[in-house]
Amino acid sequence: MTFQDKVALITGGSSGIGLATAKALAGRGAHVWIVARDQDRLSAALAQVKAARSSSSQRCEALSADISDADQAAVAVAQVVESAGAPDLLINSAGIVYPGYFQTLNPKIFRQHIEINYLGTVYVTQAAAPGMTARGSGHIVNIASAAALLGVYGYTAYCGSKYAVRGFSDVLRAEMNPLGVGVSVVFPPDTDTPQYAGEMPLRPQETKLIFGNSVLSADAVAATILQGVARRRYIITPGIEMTLLYRLLGALGPLQYPIMDRLVAGARRKTGAAAAAQKKKGNLL
Ligand SMILES: NC(=O)c1ccc[n+]([C@@H]2O[C@H](COP(=O)([O-])OP(=O)(O)OC[C@H]3O[C@@H](n4cnc5c(N)ncnc54)[C@H](OP(=O)(O)O)[C@@H]3O)[C@@H](O)[C@H]2O)c1
Repeated sequence: MTFQDKVALITGGSSGIGLATAKALAGRGAHVWIVARDQDRLSAALAQVKAARSSSSQRCEALSADISDADQAAVAVAQVVESAGAPDLLINSAGIVYPGYFQTLNPKIFRQHIEINYLGTVYVTQAAAPGMTARGSGHIVNIASAAALLGVYGYTAYCGSKYAVRGFSDVLRAEMNPLGVGVSVVFPPDTDTPQYAGEMPLRPQETKLIFGNSVLSADAVAATILQGVARRRYIITPGIEMTLLYRLLGALGPLQYPIMDRLVAGARRKTGAAAAAQKKKGNLL
């Protein structure tokens, strides 16, 4: 797939990975529609996407919608279809994350993750797919996460929603491919975006110790996504670490669980020691 003159619809296109992908597509000649809720962030993002265009004849538009509402998702997709036809490329990047120990998380957090990360992806895809399958061409990209490859300590709400995106994508791929529509699922590692900056203060110490603090840039993730789509890859793993992890987990099978248990135990020993040292100094966190 090449991107010149293609119509791309990107949820979460006002920030982070979605915005970087929108700019990369604009730079490759695509007509780009970005969708998110906050109008001010959308306007600022749209200016960046327009600035990245390779030609001023490319259409770039922003639509405000809450994709966790099926009606709003359908209206946003219908607006694109009405003005430019069924999208050639749908990128489901909108998402939220709220880490924390399971026992401290309000049930509302779990519902929000499912409603935005999972159902939002389903609603937008359900609205866009009929036009793509009727035409017999197109590509759908679902942004999952490393947290859909393995259980990430402190991320019960997020992992549940991203494993749901992964399962949905597996079936969608099988159903869409015979109808001429490609599907990709992306497993990004930690990526330097506003979402990542917002989640770090909430991330448990154990998680920081187990997974370290290396990040990819949103531009690097976007470039890998477009390369994967161009090659019609189903699994897209940005960065060498994610590629290796994906293969390693398959080879390890159930052995991954005792390995994770050892990592968690080591991290808990270190955080326990740090808390004890703070307490001794009379400054308990
Ligand atoms: N950053 C990472 O480390 C990382 C790693 C793996 C996977 N991911 C996944 O990659 C995707 C993008 O993440 P990011 O880091 O780029 O996040 P981000 O910078 O926070 O951007 C999230 C985007 O989603 C939009 N959004 C959120 N809720 C929405 C809703 N209900 N309806 C419509 N739009 C909504 C946001 O705009 P509004 O708030 O204005 O609606 C924003 O445009 C997410 O699915 C995330 O889970 C991120």
